[in-house]
Amino acid sequence: MINKDELLGMAVKARDNAYAPYSHFRVGAAILAGNGKVYTGCNIENSSYGASVCAERVALFKAVSEGEKEFLAIAIATDTEKPVMPCGICRQALSEFALNLKIYAINIDGKVKETSLNELLPDAFTKEDLESVK
Ligand code: THU
Repeated sequence: MINKDELLGMAVKARDNAYAPYSHFRVGAAILAGNGKVYTGCNIENSSYGASVCAERVALFKAVSEGEKEFLAIAIATDTEKPVMPCGICRQALSEFALNLKIYAINIDGKVKETSLNELLPDAFTKEDLESVK
């Protein structure tokens, strides 16, 4: 199984492919599936700004589209002063599959921040809520 530093390295590499001509905010992500496979992603912007997508969701959706449904960790790489945490939409998208996902973020200087989706999205809305209609 790949370790934390290797996963972070893959996110850093994925950041090279970021397509961010509007924000110039480059993001790379690497998500580790339960079977040990890793799927990478970068942010992909669009001239119609709302059509842009975050690196984390690109990685997640690539993985799910290949049949993955269990995830252990995601690494996120940005060019920023501090390591950056996933946005609210990505937190929700990730929560569908792994409420206790480990999250590792790395900044341009190699500083790492570690947390979990539980911490970032407490009391998440889930499929159980959908099933609990009276
Ligand atoms: N972005 C990500 O890829 N991940 C995040 O967690 C935050 C934001 C992207 C979206 C957009 O392309 C750019 O960063 C600025 O918001």
